[in-house]
Amino acid sequence: MNLQEIERALRELRLSGIADTLSTRVMQAQASQEPFLETLGAMLQDELDRRRSRLVERRFKRSGLDERVTLADFDWRFNPKLPRSACFELHTLKFMGEGANALIIGKPGTGKSHLAKAVALQATLQGFDVAYLEADTELARYTLAAPGERAAMLKQWIEPDLLVLDDLFLARRIGEHAAEVLQAVVHQRYKLRLSVVITSNRVVQDWGKYLGDATMATTILDRLMHRCQMLEFEGRSYRLKEAVNRIAISPESS
Ligand SMILES: Nc1ncnc2c1ncn2[C@@H]1O[C@H](COP(=O)(O)OP(=O)(O)OP(=O)(O)O)[C@@H](O)[C@H]1O
Ligand SMILES: [Mg+2]
Repeated sequence: MNLQEIERALRELRLSGIADTLSTRVMQAQASQEPFLETLGAMLQDELDRRRSRLVERRFKRSGLDERVTLADFDWRFNPKLPRSACFELHTLKFMGEGANALIIGKPGTGKSHLAKAVALQATLQGFDVAYLEADTELARYTLAAPGERAAMLKQWIEPDLLVLDDLFLARRIGEHAAEVLQAVVHQRYKLRLSVVITSNRVVQDWGKYLGDATMATTILDRLMHRCQMLEFEGRSYRLKEAVNRIAISPESS
């Protein structure tokens, strides 16, 4: 077989990680006169690397995350009162091993969603199945869905290793059916000891109001908080800072 035929055979065998780098590895082997086993080892490593990165990519796509946010881009000086060590502790994902939850509550624009997304991304990189939901939107979508679709959605929210409900109660009250499904999801995941991360700018004392049912709020919070890290985000809105900066650098202002 010549090089092209070998490449074709590799693709037919679904070894495109080897196929992609074959010509480089051939050049390398010729240039360095290395032992055959060394070249073979490098080629197998290329295939493994490619499969791993595709798996990570697939897990990221399935998670529903819309951006790759990390704590490396976070400015801790902006809001010095944020619970920094608790944030990094969460980022270690140890809480997932314990089936614990995290409630990230606090003022708008202080980085709650940023942290939740960074933790979710880290979980996908560590090989966990993650479902990231913009809570209000997805809960509303659920209530409008057909029964068959609802069952599939519920399964997608109950089964992953980590569920992130971002910006819960952003739209104030959620509907009665949305509240019921939230309760069902929290209950099922509690039984399965699967972690939930929730971000909200509504304090838990007011959740009864936004759920339209005080008992339901207690039932949900009782399960969430049984094993739970509470992170309070106090401070100024980074969004406002960015808006102010934009105004300051726009030509109209000079
Ligand atoms: N300290 C920070 N350093 C860098 N970027 C930040 C910081 N805080 C917030 N941001 C950025 O500001 C924007 C708003 O933050 P984020 O969405 O995380 O706020 P939030 O606390 O979830 O607000 P809300 O309660 O309105 O949902 C995001 O783009 C986020 O990346
Ligand atoms: Mg948010």
